[in-house]
Amino acid sequence: MKNRVIPVITAFMIGSMLTACGSGEPASDRKNILIAYFSRADENYGVGTIDVGNTQIIAEFIADEVGADSFHIETVTPYPVGYDDCCDVAKQELADKARPEIQGSIDNMEQYDIVFLGYPIWWGDMPMAVYTFMDSYDFSDKVVIPFNTHEGSGGSGTYPAIGSYLPNAQVLDGMAIQGATAQEFSSDTQQSVRSWLEGLGF
Ligand SMILES: Cc1cc2nc3c(=O)[nH]c(=O)nc-3n(C[C@H](O)[C@H](O)[C@H](O)COP(=O)(O)O)c2cc1C
Repeated sequence: MKNRVIPVITAFMIGSMLTACGSGEPASDRKNILIAYFSRADENYGVGTIDVGNTQIIAEFIADEVGADSFHIETVTPYPVGYDDCCDVAKQELADKARPEIQGSIDNMEQYDIVFLGYPIWWGDMPMAVYTFMDSYDFSDKVVIPFNTHEGSGGSGTYPAIGSYLPNAQVLDGMAIQGATAQEFSSDTQQSVRSWLEGLGF
């Protein structure tokens, strides 16, 4: 399938869109940007037992920086608290191409022009609930900006995969951050995320 991932060079286009949509408004009043993210707390690789998931930390920061609404993609059936048990469940879901049911929904998805889509890498892919999320809405003509955390796999090919999965969206190249680095969330990491957002025109 045609690769729909658009290089970051198109940032000027996002900048124009933001100017058009948010011109003169405080960032917090802009309602055209959504941050949708999957993130799991509890026991995880390299960080022990955590209260807030690695991806959630990045997602909340992006939401504050760009003045966006947030949606936490959470499954109706929670994942096991233990890391190994969670890995087993996730591996089976991947093998089954499962589409686990998500809690809640987004009111009026049509209002959003830009969707940041955040997730951890699970078994070299996105958690299957992220596919459920993508199946749940019409992304035609939306700009989708992926970001992810991981423990060595980087983006793991998920940005072009999202481009293929959402052929009617404009999917940009994404940002990958190591999970433990996200959890620590030093000022250097914050600055990296800020620089990435600035590069996109935010
Ligand atoms: C079920 C599962 C599978 C994982 N698979 C991978 C993987 O294939 N590659 C990788 O780099 N990290 C993998 N990880 C590590 C997570 O991507 C990493 O800890 C991430 O930061 C977790 O984000 P979260 O706290 O927002 O859920 C896996 C973690 C879990 C729980």
